Amino acid sequence: MRKIKSMMMGIALLAVTLTACGGKEQASAPSQNPETSAAVESQSQAVAASEETENTAAAQSESGPVPDKEEPKMAGNPEASAGKVLVVYYSASGHTGDVAEVIAEYTGGDLFELVPVEEYTSEDLNWRQEDSRVNREHEDESLQDIQLVSATVENFDSYDTVFIGYPIWWQNASWVVNSFVKENDFTGKTVIPFCTSTSSGFGDSGKNLEKMAGTGEWKDGERFGERPEKSEVTEWLDSLGL
Ligand SMILES: Cc1cc2nc3c(=O)[nH]c(=O)nc-3n(C[C@H](O)[C@H](O)[C@H](O)COP(=O)(O)O)c2cc1C
Repeated sequence: MRKIKSMMMGIALLAVTLTACGGKEQASAPSQNPETSAAVESQSQAVAASEETENTAAAQSESGPVPDKEEPKMAGNPEASAGKVLVVYYSASGHTGDVAEVIAEYTGGDLFELVPVEEYTSEDLNWRQEDSRVNREHEDESLQDIQLVSATVENFDSYDTVFIGYPIWWQNASWVVNSFVKENDFTGKTVIPFCTSTSSGFGDSGKNLEKMAGTGEWKDGERFGERPEKSEVTEWLDSLGL
């Protein structure tokens, strides 16, 4: 009888745990990207983007693709052809950084964050403000040469595959990554761009960076929403067959 009672308790406890887990999953569902006309799209994206920037850390930690502690899928895998992997990224409000972490975890690669010497504040990123930093830089290309804390990676020569991540700004790669792309020699490396955006596609962002670099074997890139599920990122990585 006592045995039956304790089994019943066990089942009840399991049911409570499962219900709790289900609730958490719902809370972390990704936000929907608005489907709008091209003209309205750019504006609504940037509105959402700057609102996002104001929210940042709390929202990201709740609903971003939080990598868990798994063995890297590719690291130490003799069949993996990606070789040594570097994941370089710029992220103004954390979304691209979350994706970069998933890639680094999956590939067992090293992360390298591009940090502007003069970091962007929420005000700087506010495209709605006519005279904001991003608007001034967007209108005047000569202001897009952003100095980075470091644009060079230790032992860069030793990497075979370089992922490069950035947010989409005005349907293109954020210009913060430009100096890294221009200052490094990608000869002999596979380069795989990726980005996050509110709703714009990948567009020509990768091709434009490829031209800027002038070296490297650039692959087609991938665009993610602001808070993709971790599985979206790993499914893309699976599809690369690295
Ligand atoms: C200046 C600026 C311009 C943006 N332009 C676009 C755009 O053209 N299309 C779009 O879908 N999202 C746009 N966004 C939204 C960002 O691409 C999106 O929020 C991205 O996930 C931010 O990544 P991060 O958190 O790594 O910086 C823009 C954001 C900013 C700050």
